[in-house]
Amino acid sequence: MRVIECTHPDEAAELVANDILAALAKKPDLVLGLATGSTPIGIYERLVRAHREDGVDFSRVRTFNLDEYIGLSAEHPQSYRMFMREHLFDGIDLAPEQSRFPPTDDHDLQAACAGFEAAIREAGGIDIQILGIGANGHIGFNEPTSSLASRTRVKTLTDKTLHDNARFYEEGEVQPQLATTMGIGTILDAKRIVLQAFGTKKAQAVRASVEGPISSFCPASALQMHPSVTMYVDPASASMLTMRDYYRRVRENERSLDELGFR
Ligand code: PGA
Repeated sequence: MRVIECTHPDEAAELVANDILAALAKKPDLVLGLATGSTPIGIYERLVRAHREDGVDFSRVRTFNLDEYIGLSAEHPQSYRMFMREHLFDGIDLAPEQSRFPPTDDHDLQAACAGFEAAIREAGGIDIQILGIGANGHIGFNEPTSSLASRTRVKTLTDKTLHDNARFYEEGEVQPQLATTMGIGTILDAKRIVLQAFGTKKAQAVRASVEGPISSFCPASALQMHPSVTMYVDPASASMLTMRDYYRRVRENERSLDELGFR
């Protein structure tokens, strides 16, 4: 796993957005795996700006979101379909039928989840998967103890996740306890994975995912099995890493290799 410690979340957002834009320039029908939450907003802002100011063309891109709540309509302000419209889709030239979310409205959810997996395969697989991480180590809504081989399915959210997200709901408003999420196996099928984690709240999860044993108790630790994961952290989320100096030195050496023209 590559660990890139950025001075500020904005630096990480810039690096990830530039990475996506470079991949898009090479492959106009790029397949993106998308995450919601506060962490990826800076990436989406930059992609929207690239479309508005530089005319970057997203019309052939396909997207698959990681997860969605069961029981919220697409128009509900807390639904992830609404989040994506607000933060990305309304700002770029992507037709609605090119974006898919894990199914939450179908009578036969299991069959619909298999259909979602098939759609990813038919698109040729996810080229770049964007991830955040929960304070409990979840990726998507794969909560601790999720099977490391899991596929898209319905999960019950943990008390920790419900508590962390309660701030988005009005007092008395019903907060969904169920969500459909890509599985850990689904995520690991992506060709490339970029994960961002910022703030002290994430420090323990970052340490467990990068330096801890692979364990379903920290779902993000499964990323150690993937050949191409870059984790972007800030000084606060990096604060518990024991090999922090080493990760910095790796980055410096990568820069030197770049300057010398190596690939
Ligand atoms: P956050 O959520 O980006 O709002 O911190 C991340 C997550 O729970 O996966």
